[in-house]
This record gives sequence, structure tokens and C-alpha cells, in this order.
Amino acid sequence: MTVRLVLVALLTGATPLAAQWPPEKFTNLEVLPDSIPRDTLVQVMAGFTRALGVRCTYCHVGEEGQPLATYDFASDEKHPKEMARRMLRMVAAINGEYLGDHRHGDDPPVRVTCATCHRGLTAPRPLQDQLLLAWRAGGIDSALAAYAALRTRYYGSAAYDFGEVALVDAANGVDRAGTIADAVILLRRNTEVHPESAFAWRSLAEGQAKAGDQAGAVASYERVVQLRPGDQRAAARLKELREGGRSP
Ligand code: HEC
Ligand code: HEC
Repeated sequence: MTVRLVLVALLTGATPLAAQWPPEKFTNLEVLPDSIPRDTLVQVMAGFTRALGVRCTYCHVGEEGQPLATYDFASDEKHPKEMARRMLRMVAAINGEYLGDHRHGDDPPVRVTCATCHRGLTAPRPLQDQLLLAWRAGGIDSALAAYAALRTRYYGSAAYDFGEVALVDAANGVDRAGTIADAVILLRRNTEVHPESAFAWRSLAEGQAKAGDQAGAVASYERVVQLRPGDQRAAARLKELREGGRSP
């Protein structure tokens, strides 16, 4: 380093060899327009990180914690960056070709963004599929552990819907795979998380009936009738179960 460069570094506090952030111009844009203003591009990128729940380094070559000026943003080395280009084209097609002539004239319009699908996740799976995945990998304990861990981490964010439906959907998937006993465990967990949900108790009751647990099914349907006193169908089903009727 020459004396003059060292002097510049001392005066400005900057490493003289480091690139500028944001760069003067972008050199490797394939989808975004070359004319995109610098601050707009930075906003688009910040939107990507929020939509996927990642940092710049998920797509770009650079070291976490180092100044952005040291990153190589033009590099195409990381696969997610290429995926993001595909996604940009897809989103443009959805909003343009598919929805372009279906505008109501409202402002802002309803439009598809990265966050519409990704919800803060790199893999935008619904909760029920995430649970099925865990169940296939490690059985019922693994599915219950995944539910607890995801709930702790994501409850209150847009990532997953922890309402009364997900565990029932997961239980249906587990049942289709031939294990009603595991399905009932998931359905019971659902009634613990949603004790006031008639839907949760009805689903558990039907699972118990299918598993041959008549007494359990009756007790669960009694909860349904308690929660929804005017529900004629539930009352009729309870009567049927008490008389030892089979599940439909
Ligand atoms: C989900 C992947 C993804 C994330 C996360 C992401 N980027 Fe990008 N970035 C891209 C893609 C894709 C392009 C190229 C767009 C194109 O080809 O039109 C790009 C291009 C850039 C460029 C232009 C590079 C050039 O010279 O061509 C800069 C600068 C940039 N990103 C900065 C950032 C910053 C800063 C962050 C973090 C706040 C970030 N990016 C996060 C995917 C991402
Ligand atoms: C219509 C729904 C949808 C939209 C909108 C969408 N994505 Fe995706 N994205 C997906 C799906 C599905 C996958 C595949 C995930 C998998 O296989 O793990 C995916 C995968 C990706 C991946 C690869 C993740 C990995 O590392 O496995 C990146 C990066 C990505 N999307 C970025 C974006 C960006 C950036 C946008 C907005 C420009 C966007 N996506 C918009 C559905 C969507």
C-alpha cells in the first residue's frame, strides 16, 4: 500500500481497496432492469430477506458480519440466487400475464409477492406438510416435537397457521398412510391446543371411532355437544355411537 493510500485510509476510516456500497452500477442484472435506481434495488433485496427469513448471504457471496462493500453481489455462485431469478420471472408472469387484465383499479392492487408464498420461510410448506415430513422421518414423537418447536419459533408470525385445522390435516395424512393410532395422537394434541374447538373434538371423536375406541369417541362427542348445544348432527352422531354404531 502506498503512503498516499494509507493516508486516505486514516483520514476516511475506510479501507482504500474496498469496493463502494451500494455500488455505482450493477453489472449482472438479468431480470431487474439495468436502469433500476440503487435504493430501489436495495429495497427489493431487503424485501427478499424478509420474505424468505434469510440474510443477504443466503444468495450472495460474502462473509456474515463483514461490511457489505466486501461482498461479491454480482457473483452467481450460489444456487438460491438463480432460484430467485426464476421466482422473479414467475412472479412477473403471475401479476402480468395471469392477473394483468384482472385489476379492479384499487390502489394498491391485490398482487402476488414473494411473501405471498414464502411467509418468512425458504421452503413455503404449510404446517400440515411440515408435520407429515417429520412423521415420515421419525414417527409420532418426531411429529409432536416438530409441532412444539415450530409453534415456539413461529407462533404469531405469518409463517404457519397454528389454528385448529393443521393437526387434523396432518392426522388425515398419517391415517391415509395406514396408522390410525398415530393419527389419534395428533388429533388429541389438537384438542389440548384448542380445547374450545368443536371441530377439534369432532375430529378426535371420529378418529377414535375409526380406531375402535368407542368409549373415547363417546366422551369426545359429548364435548362437541357441550360446545355446540344446538348441533343436531352432533347429537345424532353421539346417540349412534352410544348405541354402538360404527363410524360412517
Ligand atoms: C433470495 C435471494 C436473494 C437475497 C436474499 C438477496 N439477493 Fe441480492 N440479488 C438476488 C438476485 C436474483 C439478483 C440478480 C437480479 C437480476 O438478475 O436481475 C441480485 C442482485 C443484487 C445486486 C446487484 C449485483 C450486480 O451487480 O448485478 C446487489 C447489489 C444485491 N443483490 C444486494 C443484496 C443485498 C444487500 C442483500 C441483503 C439485504 C441481498 N441482495 C439479498 C437475490 C438475492
Ligand atoms: C407462488 C408461490 C411462490 C412465490 C410467489 C415465490 N416463491 Fe420462491 N419458491 C416457491 C416454492 C414452492 C419453492 C420450492 C421450495 C422447495 O422446493 O424447497 C420456492 C423456492 C424458492 C427459492 C429456493 C429456496 C431454496 O434454497 O431451496 C428461492 C431462493 C426463492 N423461492 C425465492 C423467491 C423470491 C425471491 C420470490 C419473489 C420474487 C419468490 N420466491 C416467490 C414458491 C414461491
